Amino acid sequence: MPVTRTQVGIVGAGPAGLMLGHLLHLRGIDSVIVENRSREHVIDRVRAGVLEQGTVDLMTAAGVAQRLHREGMRHGGIGIAFGGNRHRIALAELTAGRAITIYGQNEVVKDLIDARLETGRPVYFEVDRVGVHDLTTAQPKLRFHHGGDAHEVTCDVVAGCDGFHGICRTAIPATHLRVYERDYPFGWLGVLASAPPTSDELVYSLHDRGFALFSMRSPSITRLYLQCAPDENAEDWSDDRIWAELTARLSTSDGWAPAVGPILQKGVTGMRSFVAEPMRYGRLFLAGDAAHIVPPTGAKGLNLAMADVYRLAEAIAEHSTSVREDALDAYSDRGLRRTWRAQRFSWWMTSMLHRSESDNAFDRRRQLAELDYLVGSRAAMTSLAENYVGVPFD
Ligand code: FAD
Ligand code: DHB
Repeated sequence: MPVTRTQVGIVGAGPAGLMLGHLLHLRGIDSVIVENRSREHVIDRVRAGVLEQGTVDLMTAAGVAQRLHREGMRHGGIGIAFGGNRHRIALAELTAGRAITIYGQNEVVKDLIDARLETGRPVYFEVDRVGVHDLTTAQPKLRFHHGGDAHEVTCDVVAGCDGFHGICRTAIPATHLRVYERDYPFGWLGVLASAPPTSDELVYSLHDRGFALFSMRSPSITRLYLQCAPDENAEDWSDDRIWAELTARLSTSDGWAPAVGPILQKGVTGMRSFVAEPMRYGRLFLAGDAAHIVPPTGAKGLNLAMADVYRLAEAIAEHSTSVREDALDAYSDRGLRRTWRAQRFSWWMTSMLHRSESDNAFDRRRQLAELDYLVGSRAAMTSLAENYVGVPFD
């Protein structure tokens, strides 16, 4: 079995793992990335699309934002629709110029894989039997199989960037981890449609039939979401049914509606809030979805993952030059503060904008009162705006 050495063993080539590898590379720190899916699968996976200002700034500073600046769509506001009316929240005006950029997560991943391959540093796709070992020693190990061969990599640090269903978090003894979670009684049916966006900005809508979201990926591709049952089969949704529901839930009294077109891709995502504390066990550090999940309504998942790896790269760099443990020690507490802020915001956006069967008539009126207050108060809009565009990475 080949036994090699690296400074950081990274499990998972999603946005967190790839960005961490790149930030470490920029500081001259070596890493090995292992990913159990194929390169094509990772690039084709359609997921999030809203980048916070901090994520755009980080990608720009890391030199991986050329295509993002060319093809990404900067939005200075979002729409909120309820009661048949559309209201604008002027994100940039309310936050001294901060904004969001629409750029698909799969494009981010594609750019980061290209950047990784250019560095010549190792990234192994389609690995299996990944395991992390000796985590409480100064030489933790990553073991995996690739192309039928067993590998062992001795590391200084292991980064668990392997998402919610990965193996890193579950390698931590249950006695060392406290888990907080909440499931929601609904999911999202997400579709990608070949139809030009009819609004320049996103529209989040609460309708009697449930939540709907209008987003986009390019001047010819719309991305849309519908509240559905969490266990719904996407195949039960014909194109006609999807468009009837989207049109009913999104159309507003000013005559606005999404343009209809062929559906290119569809899938159902469950909704969950989840936090594992602390984000560290010995020399294993969790980042991104491996440590926390937010319901997608606040568009925070990908951005939290980026904030984690920014902080982790800084801490590892400090440790590698000074052998001081302070920054590594502070990683979890600093990340949890940001995580809980995003948890609160995502839970709030989700509760305000979804219909739940357990809600009664009082809850529905309260929800409408909340929306009415939001769009009528500069203070309430500012609170949404500063959380939505995201606080600067720290
Ligand atoms: P991931 O992107 O999950 O990456 C983890 C990587 O680790 C994956 O490539 C996985 O294949 C790999 N891996 C797993 N196990 C192993 C193993 N044992 N060995 C090696 N590799 C492993 N957020 C939003 O804000 N808006 C959305 O609309 C939205 N939609 C989503 C839809 C879906 C179906 C999912 C699952 C998530 C969605 N999210 C959304 C959340 C957002 O995509 C995530 O927060 C983001 O992907 C987190 O990045 P990550 O790198 O931490 O994890
Ligand atoms: C998108 C996803 C989100 O979760 C969200 O809140 C807004 C937009 C998107 O995929 O475009």
